[in-house]
Amino acid sequence: MIENHPWMPDSDDGFVDLTSHDAWVPGAPYATFQRLRDEDPVSWWDEEDGSGFWSLTRYADVIWANHEWETFTSSLGIRLEEMDAEETEARRTLMENDPPHHTRLRRLLSRGFTRRSVEAYEDPIRELTVGIIDDALQLGEFDYVEEVSRVLPMRMLGRLLGVSDEDAAQFVVWGDQLLSNTDPEYTDHVVDQVDTDEWRLIPFRSPTGLEVFKYAEEVAAKRRACPGEDVISQLLAPTTSGEPATDLEFKNFFTLLVAAGNDTTRYTLTGGLKAMLDHPDQMALLRADPTLMDSAVEEILRWTTVTTHFRRTATCDLELGGRQISKGDKVVLWWISADYDNRNFDDPYRFDITRDPNDHVAFGRNGPHLCLGSWLARMEIRITMQELLDRTSDIEIAGPAERLRSNFISGFKHLPVRCTPA
Ligand code: HEM
Repeated sequence: MIENHPWMPDSDDGFVDLTSHDAWVPGAPYATFQRLRDEDPVSWWDEEDGSGFWSLTRYADVIWANHEWETFTSSLGIRLEEMDAEETEARRTLMENDPPHHTRLRRLLSRGFTRRSVEAYEDPIRELTVGIIDDALQLGEFDYVEEVSRVLPMRMLGRLLGVSDEDAAQFVVWGDQLLSNTDPEYTDHVVDQVDTDEWRLIPFRSPTGLEVFKYAEEVAAKRRACPGEDVISQLLAPTTSGEPATDLEFKNFFTLLVAAGNDTTRYTLTGGLKAMLDHPDQMALLRADPTLMDSAVEEILRWTTVTTHFRRTATCDLELGGRQISKGDKVVLWWISADYDNRNFDDPYRFDITRDPNDHVAFGRNGPHLCLGSWLARMEIRITMQELLDRTSDIEIAGPAERLRSNFISGFKHLPVRCTPA
């Protein structure tokens, strides 16, 4: 029996084509994932270009493969997209590396993103959030994405990077063009609709990657001449434990941050509010007991699981779930399916802000690539929700929520709301 998720589209008959970006527009295919978990947990999917991939859909398989990085490498690509050796090399970032090289790169970047480093920015981030929410509330009725969730994450990340709000606004546009490269609302270079061959060696096959590189070169020159306390200066400064980032490494880091720190948090903030509005009992519970905020944030992360999947490549022949995986096969870890697996989560289609334990995989888990921005994202979600609830007595949905065209990022790109100030 297929249980019900409130965001499950009518078109999901259990047999949705996971490779079609269009199929995800009415909603994530929760019923298809449930059928796969129950009947075909390690399934083969053909792709239009003649290649194909294995889909891992059960929680236990996903976290096992994520942990076994020697068997499931990230170094040959982490997206479904088929890339030749030249493209893979040119577009390699932290994410497309395995230990031990990955460990060295990650150590350089992680200094600025530990829980403690991030918490030092709580006050400026809260001040920023209050200003943005107060401006939005003056409008009464507004698109939560345009006024709040699209604006906040990059400005928040900008506080850590030491860049101005004007530059952060530019990053939002760039981040959309890169990560939302499957939705015509955000880019003219929709990867599966127009020929993007000209930019095949640029991040996300997008000319925007060149603009981000240029900005990164300029900001690196400025910080080298005049270092500050920010994350960029730390990255470029010599360390006692190793070399600073090279120019190419820095440009790739920077592009990765602009892409990874933008849409992910935006769609989680938006989906989190939508989940609360769809479940007024949970919203009332949180308003009555603000100490539940940390566990509400974890449930929002599980419920939304915005990055639906990441890909690995098998480094040897192996058997999994009765299927024969061959060396060189693409293997996709569907986080969004794992987070609704009833073998791991009790009553997974219940949005429950008191859920405990809640070992979701929204940030990955137990592998070398566990989301670097997880503490920043958690703080951003917590502060935004706290300030929004404190400043409103009621929030209602004021129109249809629209979804992004993507099978990689799952979320709402517009969410009209009507707010009554407290
Ligand atoms: C709710 C928001 C977010 C979600 C759902 C999310 C999700 C993820 C996931 C699933 C991964 C694992 C990738 C893999 O296994 O290959 C990841 C990695 C990463 N994330 Fe996030 N992320 C979020 C916010 C952020 C933010 C705000 C930043 C910015 C600092 C960030 C930066 C990164 C980086 C740099 C990596 C690569 C880490 C590595 O390869 O070692 N993320 N993220």
